[in-house]
Amino acid sequence: MSAGVAVRIENVRRAFDTNVVIARMNLRIEAGEFLALLGPSGCGKSTLLRMIAGLDQPDAGTIATEPVAGRFQRAFVFQDAHLLPWRNVLDNAALPLELMGVEREERGAKARAALEKVNLAEANDRYPAQLSGGMRMRVSLARALVTEPQLLLLDEPFAALDEITRFHLDVQLRELWRERRMTVVFVTHSISEAAFLADRAVVMGKRGGNISLDRSMALPEARTNELRADPRLGLVMKMLLGAIEE
Ligand SMILES: Nc1ncnc2c1ncn2[C@@H]1O[C@H](COP(=O)(O)OP(=O)(O)O)[C@@H](O)[C@H]1O
Ligand SMILES: [Mg+2]
Repeated sequence: MSAGVAVRIENVRRAFDTNVVIARMNLRIEAGEFLALLGPSGCGKSTLLRMIAGLDQPDAGTIATEPVAGRFQRAFVFQDAHLLPWRNVLDNAALPLELMGVEREERGAKARAALEKVNLAEANDRYPAQLSGGMRMRVSLARALVTEPQLLLLDEPFAALDEITRFHLDVQLRELWRERRMTVVFVTHSISEAAFLADRAVVMGKRGGNISLDRSMALPEARTNELRADPRLGLVMKMLLGAIEE
């Protein structure tokens, strides 16, 4: 059984005044899948992700999650790590649990475990200003994972990092997904990152939130840096590039 929830997007419309960003979108995201969402700047990727997260509401249509029974955890990771500068790494990672009212000992243990998962165990006592950009993003990931979310939404999380750091974080995120099988929606404008990370790519067109491509990408389930030089990855990238340029 998958640990993720499915997301059903039906006839969704979202406009800002006269700017119709999403005219009528239909998309079903399966439970436990790793989906990359691509598209040109300004096409509405963040708008869609925010609505899936419940941070914004559609003007028409519905966004529903399945199974609907019971509450489930969702987490959102932004391009900026958004850490609280006066809290150390451990207390930043534990913040969602604190907001949920989890008692101190338990949230400390869970935050430590989440930080270990992103290879940051040694930095627990440091403050955000003492971390590199990649480490800050790792804390942000740990904070997202600490509640064991069934739905993980990421909006160009690694876009501001240097390429080597991004490569490492890609691999780590994929490993975390293989372990937990939560549903992942990963927004990126990088074709290579989408191809490397995800099992399905959805490309949004320039206007109106129409979907210009929705395709499974058949690559090995484990994604290591070896795959970056694999011709199969090149073929998937070529397919995505072709669809985006059309
Ligand atoms: N809160 C907002 N108020 C007004 N316009 C917005 C708001 N959020 C997004 N937009 C507009 O919606 C369009 C899509 O934005 P966005 O979803 O951020 O695109 P993307 O993430 O694909 O680059 C843009 O034209 C943007 O200016
Ligand atoms: Mg965006």
